[in-house]
Amino acid sequence: MVSSSTVTDALHAATPQLEGKWPEWLKGTLMRTAPAVFELGPWRAEHWFDGLGMMFCFDVAAGQVAYRQRLLDTAASRAARKGRVDMSSFGSPNQRGFFRRLFEPIPRQTDNANVNTVKLGDEWHVFTETQHQQIVDEATLETLGTVKYADDLPARMTMTAHPHWDFEKKRAVNVGATLGREATVWAFDYAPGRHERRVFGKYAALELSYMHAFALTPRELIVIGHPWLLKPHQLLWSNKGFGKHFEWRPERGSRLLVFDREKAEAAPLVFETETVFVFHVANAFHDGEDRVIDVLSYPDPGIADTLRVLSLQPKAVPTTPALKRLRIKPGGRTSVETLAEKAFELPAISYRRMNGRRYRFLYGSTIAGDGEEVVKLDLDSGVRKTFGRADHVYGEPVFVARPGAEAEDDGVVLVVGSSPVRSELTVLDAQSFAPIAQARLELPIPLGFHGSFVGR
Ligand SMILES: [Fe+2]
Repeated sequence: MVSSSTVTDALHAATPQLEGKWPEWLKGTLMRTAPAVFELGPWRAEHWFDGLGMMFCFDVAAGQVAYRQRLLDTAASRAARKGRVDMSSFGSPNQRGFFRRLFEPIPRQTDNANVNTVKLGDEWHVFTETQHQQIVDEATLETLGTVKYADDLPARMTMTAHPHWDFEKKRAVNVGATLGREATVWAFDYAPGRHERRVFGKYAALELSYMHAFALTPRELIVIGHPWLLKPHQLLWSNKGFGKHFEWRPERGSRLLVFDREKAEAAPLVFETETVFVFHVANAFHDGEDRVIDVLSYPDPGIADTLRVLSLQPKAVPTTPALKRLRIKPGGRTSVETLAEKAFELPAISYRRMNGRRYRFLYGSTIAGDGEEVVKLDLDSGVRKTFGRADHVYGEPVFVARPGAEAEDDGVVLVVGSSPVRSELTVLDAQSFAPIAQARLELPIPLGFHGSFVGR
């Protein structure tokens, strides 16, 4: 947890000190978001996922690097400033009064956004797993308002913070959930600009599995339905954080929901597999007739509780996920193979080229586990390369391919390291995993989860 006088509503720009040899071809914007403010007057976030979101970005061009950051301006941040937040977030209670609860039994969701940001068309959209996504101006980092969807899907649809981008169809793909008497999962895609969601898959059940991310192949979308379950009626009149209503039922096993992306509002194929608890999917692909889904799997959802703000000190996370390969065979039999007993979090691949395809290299961050470092794992050989500097923690590494690259790992990996007093963007050669250039800042950037690099 970092607090700094530079974390404010105003745009804060800084010129980093540069070292090393910056690749001439590396030109673009690395945009990221982070939970940055955990206390404002009487308001307090009780979970890392609930800190008020800050945008930060590095512009890189021909060896020049510029840095800027700014807090998001949301209804949630304005309410926090007044000390009373009446919106539901992941792990912090909301402060609705008695009458408000009576007339609005299920609370409105927060419009704070701090998990991920992706550029869709000309707009940077900032995501948390809620019904709201914020739009941010690239130059000023000003909050421009929430995304408006041009369709008649339910307004109260919680979308994941991990949309995929289909480079061929030029459409974003995401999954949402609505709660009524039943929980409904919606799988849809949309073109940037108009934001008209086309639903290709729909699945209704009495309980909702917690969904953070999902897998996408050229033909299918796969949801990991692990048994951390919410019954919709449990939310009624409750002021507890959204994530506090889920129940862990390991005896139920997990369900893999496989949606056909060419269909319209079609039910998924459902396959039973062993109990896993998953935030992030590494990748998925078709291996002959088999479907393969690689996930970072925990034995239980205890990790979600560990991320409470009070335990946000490095080394407080007691478990490291395993990298598991879930396989669905023709006929529906499933198997689980452990590829790495101790893996890492915040996985990344050479996304444009390898997402939905058989791949070899997986990157990630140990975030706050057994030493804070960034990792490259060769799935063919099991060889692991690491990079890390003492006292620094790292969010999701971002792979950027070299123009004209042929090898899967020909390019660089961009990582932002944060310490309590300074931060740095490091450019790693993706093949050797050695640092080749650094941009150092004498300010602490709060540790964040995800972000994107858009070249120019
Ligand atoms: Fe995530």
